[in-house]
Amino acid sequence: MTHITFISADGERRQEVQAAAGAVLLEIAQAAGQPLEGTCEGQMACSTCHVIIDAADFPKLGKASEAEEDMLDLAAAATRTSRLSCQIVLDDKVASLTVRVPGECHNMQGM
Ligand code: FES
Repeated sequence: MTHITFISADGERRQEVQAAAGAVLLEIAQAAGQPLEGTCEGQMACSTCHVIIDAADFPKLGKASEAEEDMLDLAAAATRTSRLSCQIVLDDKVASLTVRVPGECHNMQGM
Protein backbone atom coordinates (compact mmCIF):
# COMPACT_ATOMS: atom_id res chain seq x y z
CA MET A 1 0.00 0.00 0.00
CA THR A 2 1.10 3.54 -0.67
CA HIS A 3 -0.21 6.39 1.42
CA ILE A 4 -0.82 9.31 -0.91
CA THR A 5 -1.44 12.89 0.11
CA PHE A 6 -2.90 15.13 -2.56
CA ILE A 7 -2.46 18.85 -2.05
CA SER A 8 -4.54 21.39 -3.96
CA ALA A 9 -2.90 24.01 -6.17
CA ASP A 10 -3.35 26.73 -3.56
CA GLY A 11 -2.03 24.46 -0.80
CA GLU A 12 -5.30 24.81 1.10
CA ARG A 13 -6.81 21.38 0.77
CA ARG A 14 -5.27 18.02 1.58
CA GLN A 15 -6.67 14.64 0.83
CA GLU A 16 -5.22 11.38 2.05
CA VAL A 17 -5.81 8.10 0.23
CA GLN A 18 -4.37 4.60 0.19
CA ALA A 19 -3.36 2.99 -3.07
CA ALA A 20 -2.63 -0.67 -3.73
CA ALA A 21 0.51 -1.79 -5.54
CA GLY A 22 0.00 -1.76 -9.28
CA ALA A 23 -2.41 1.16 -9.21
CA VAL A 24 -1.82 4.08 -11.55
CA LEU A 25 -1.56 7.44 -9.83
CA LEU A 26 -3.88 9.14 -12.33
CA GLU A 27 -6.65 6.64 -11.63
CA ILE A 28 -6.23 7.00 -7.88
CA ALA A 29 -6.40 10.76 -8.20
CA GLN A 30 -9.50 10.68 -10.38
CA ALA A 31 -11.24 8.22 -8.08
CA ALA A 32 -10.51 10.62 -5.23
CA GLY A 33 -12.10 13.46 -7.18
CA GLN A 34 -8.91 15.36 -7.91
CA PRO A 35 -9.17 17.73 -10.91
CA LEU A 36 -6.99 15.77 -13.33
CA GLU A 37 -8.45 15.29 -16.76
CA GLY A 38 -6.15 12.66 -18.18
CA THR A 39 -7.66 13.33 -21.60
CA CYS A 40 -5.57 10.81 -23.54
CA GLU A 41 -5.97 8.06 -20.91
CA GLY A 42 -2.31 7.35 -20.50
CA GLN A 43 -1.19 7.58 -24.13
CA MET A 44 1.23 10.41 -23.33
CA ALA A 45 -0.50 12.60 -25.86
CA CYS A 46 -1.71 15.28 -23.50
CA SER A 47 -0.39 16.76 -20.30
CA THR A 48 -3.65 17.14 -18.42
CA CYS A 49 -2.52 14.52 -15.92
CA HIS A 50 0.49 16.61 -14.86
CA VAL A 51 1.24 16.60 -11.14
CA ILE A 52 4.06 17.96 -9.04
CA ILE A 53 5.71 15.42 -6.78
CA ASP A 54 7.06 16.53 -3.41
CA ALA A 55 10.82 17.05 -3.79
CA ALA A 56 11.59 14.56 -1.02
CA ASP A 57 9.45 11.89 -2.67
CA PHE A 58 10.53 12.50 -6.26
CA PRO A 59 13.62 10.23 -6.11
CA LYS A 60 11.47 7.33 -4.89
CA LEU A 61 9.83 7.13 -8.29
CA GLY A 62 11.57 5.70 -11.30
CA LYS A 63 12.93 8.01 -13.94
CA ALA A 64 10.54 9.49 -16.44
CA SER A 65 10.87 8.19 -19.98
CA GLU A 66 12.03 10.53 -22.70
CA ALA A 67 8.54 10.67 -24.16
CA GLU A 68 7.20 11.68 -20.77
CA GLU A 69 9.86 14.38 -20.42
CA ASP A 70 8.94 15.75 -23.83
CA MET A 71 5.30 15.95 -22.87
CA LEU A 72 6.14 17.59 -19.56
CA ASP A 73 7.95 20.33 -21.49
CA LEU A 74 4.53 21.29 -22.81
CA ALA A 75 2.74 21.18 -19.49
CA ALA A 76 1.73 24.48 -17.95
CA ALA A 77 3.54 25.28 -14.71
CA ALA A 78 5.84 22.27 -14.96
CA THR A 79 8.63 22.08 -12.40
CA ARG A 80 11.71 19.94 -11.91
CA THR A 81 9.67 17.46 -9.92
CA SER A 82 6.77 17.29 -12.36
CA ARG A 83 5.51 13.96 -13.63
CA LEU A 84 2.65 12.68 -15.71
CA SER A 85 0.48 10.85 -13.23
CA CYS A 86 -0.67 8.36 -15.88
CA GLN A 87 2.91 7.08 -16.05
CA ILE A 88 3.32 6.44 -12.35
CA VAL A 89 2.53 2.91 -11.24
CA LEU A 90 2.64 2.53 -7.49
CA ASP A 91 4.45 -0.27 -5.75
CA ASP A 92 5.01 -1.27 -2.15
CA LYS A 93 8.51 0.17 -2.10
CA VAL A 94 6.97 3.62 -2.02
CA ALA A 95 5.29 3.87 1.38
CA SER A 96 4.15 7.44 1.04
CA LEU A 97 3.88 10.05 -1.66
CA THR A 98 2.91 13.69 -1.53
CA VAL A 99 1.49 15.03 -4.75
CA ARG A 100 0.50 18.56 -5.63
CA VAL A 101 -2.25 18.91 -8.21
CA PRO A 102 -1.55 22.04 -10.28
CA GLY A 103 -5.19 23.01 -10.68
CA GLU A 104 -7.53 23.32 -13.59
CA CYS A 105 -6.07 26.30 -15.43
CA HIS A 106 -4.24 24.09 -17.91
CA ASN A 107 -7.50 22.56 -19.05
CA MET A 108 -8.85 25.81 -20.39
CA GLN A 109 -7.69 25.47 -23.97
CA GLY A 110 -10.61 25.17 -26.34
CA MET A 111 -13.05 26.87 -24.01
FE1 FES B 1 -2.49 12.15 -21.24
FE2 FES B 1 -1.23 11.31 -19.04
S1 FES B 1 -3.32 11.17 -19.51
S2 FES B 1 -0.38 12.20 -20.82
